[in-house]
Amino acid sequence: MKDQEQKNEQEKSRQPEKDWYKSMSFYQIWVRSFADGNGDGIGDLYGVYDKLEYIKKLGVDGIWFSPLYPSPNADFGYDISDYRDIHPEYGTLQQFQKVLEKAHDMGMKIIMDLVINHTSDEHPWFLESKKGRDNPYSDYYIWRDTPNNWDSMFEGKAWEYVPERGQYYLHLFAKKQPDLNMDNPKVREEVKSIMRFCLDMGVDGFREDVINFISKREGLPDGIPFVPVLGSMMHYKDGPHIHEYLGEFRKVCRQYDCFQVGEGPMTTVESAKKYLMGPHKSLDMMFSFDHMMADCMFTEYIHRPFSLVKLKKAFSKWQYALAGKAWNALYLENHDHPRVISRYGSEHFHRESGTMLAVSYLFQQGTPFIYQGQEIGMTNIRLKSIEQYVDVSTHNNYRKYHVKDPVEKRLERIHLSSRDSARTPMQWTGGKNAGFSENRPWFYVNPNYTKINVEAEEKDPSSILNFYRRCLKLRKTTEALLWGTYKEYYPADPNLYLYERRLPGSVCLVICSFAGFPVRVPMPKPFRGKRGKLILCNYPKNAPKAENLLRKTEQKIENAAVAHGWFRPYEARVYQFEEGET
Ligand code: GLC
Ligand code: CA
Repeated sequence: MKDQEQKNEQEKSRQPEKDWYKSMSFYQIWVRSFADGNGDGIGDLYGVYDKLEYIKKLGVDGIWFSPLYPSPNADFGYDISDYRDIHPEYGTLQQFQKVLEKAHDMGMKIIMDLVINHTSDEHPWFLESKKGRDNPYSDYYIWRDTPNNWDSMFEGKAWEYVPERGQYYLHLFAKKQPDLNMDNPKVREEVKSIMRFCLDMGVDGFREDVINFISKREGLPDGIPFVPVLGSMMHYKDGPHIHEYLGEFRKVCRQYDCFQVGEGPMTTVESAKKYLMGPHKSLDMMFSFDHMMADCMFTEYIHRPFSLVKLKKAFSKWQYALAGKAWNALYLENHDHPRVISRYGSEHFHRESGTMLAVSYLFQQGTPFIYQGQEIGMTNIRLKSIEQYVDVSTHNNYRKYHVKDPVEKRLERIHLSSRDSARTPMQWTGGKNAGFSENRPWFYVNPNYTKINVEAEEKDPSSILNFYRRCLKLRKTTEALLWGTYKEYYPADPNLYLYERRLPGSVCLVICSFAGFPVRVPMPKPFRGKRGKLILCNYPKNAPKAENLLRKTEQKIENAAVAHGWFRPYEARVYQFEEGET
């Protein structure tokens, strides 16, 4: 018995308790567009250093940095040419260490992007590998004499010919992003050594890029013909050795108090569970994509009208499936998706929908991520010509689909889908260059910066920014919102999203209207006739009542007297019910 106890203790100390990430929330920085500290028009780590107080004040507990490493920027940092340095445009390793130290002193954690499915074609490993078949790096990448029929995500077919070597290399993303050969044990050793390099510096964890793609099926068989991209995905998504390889990486993390969130494009709950639970657990959380498809199919580029029912289905599917078993990563925006107000909210009801969207996801069970600019409600940019866009996948989509459509129509699709919309410079002030830089920014500033900016929102108590702060504080201080079980009400309602978070003794009911007009909210059964305390509302106290808005639009008021009856456009509320009240 004693032996067993001792064993358990030992086991525990080998696997440091990492649940710290569960009550946290993260802020994501895509550094190029965050804040320019040295005046060359490009965001950098000097800018980040000066903004750490701003980030802390938002109420987050950690930062995820999109890649900061040297990169030819074919995919803005996701094509790494040196894993052990900082891109000179963003600063130096010393400057990164300063940021890390200051963040730690302020009580914030830092996680880094770990991009190991591919490197840049300018990485020294690839420069060697392409020289021939008998150098130490020749098997670091995936080379074939004849290509299979796979498509790449970003640029036509997934194979590129190198005359020097007389072979083709695989690139699931851009041509300048050759896929690493993870079956080669030397490559896995490199990955582990890169991880140790970061962890030894004091980094607290990783966001692991397209991590479910890193193990390819042996023999690289052809995919289903004429099914673009998806036709070959079954040969590399959740590939044959994925859990074995991630298990090796997990071992490295276990030696530190390190946390891992993986990005899982096209992942399903069933496959995600294999990463997130059980003896072979290899990730703490996974970024899934289902809920990013409520206004599109497979990719934002194939646009569909927004469907709240589809969004709710995706939210609830993940909430129910992981309940009590694993932990969700919650997000509505990142550097890969257009701005959420422009998609699921309303640019017209900017403040209302921006704050409501915050409520819709921050109080689900999981760890929330907030992407730079989301907290002030930045929206999509509409550039006038395709030449003005810089993202490789945007150009690919433009060239590949609907080429016979008139230019305006093709551009409209770009406006709805481009990743560049999430990559415009952060809007700090209403002044020159939106306060992002002294000099001309590297990319277009959204012209709405005169209205939507940090400085203006700091001053306005009902701004989106101040609302995010309230939400994050409320989440942190309300046990039911952190740990309570999730249950959705009215899943088929096309305008309303209602969910409860329940702990014994305390229940929160979250109600969000996704409608641009007043709607009546019937209380779900367990709450009828109960007196809940309104703990959060995104309309200021003195705002007109829904009934008055209704009169204005000359709609009939039914049961207007019913408590909590009518919700104003994009209104969101959270009620708390104490023990015995439901
Ligand atoms: C991930 C990144 C994205 C990048 C791609 C290829 O999806 O988030 O920005 O383009 O991987 O690395
Ligand atoms: Ca700079």
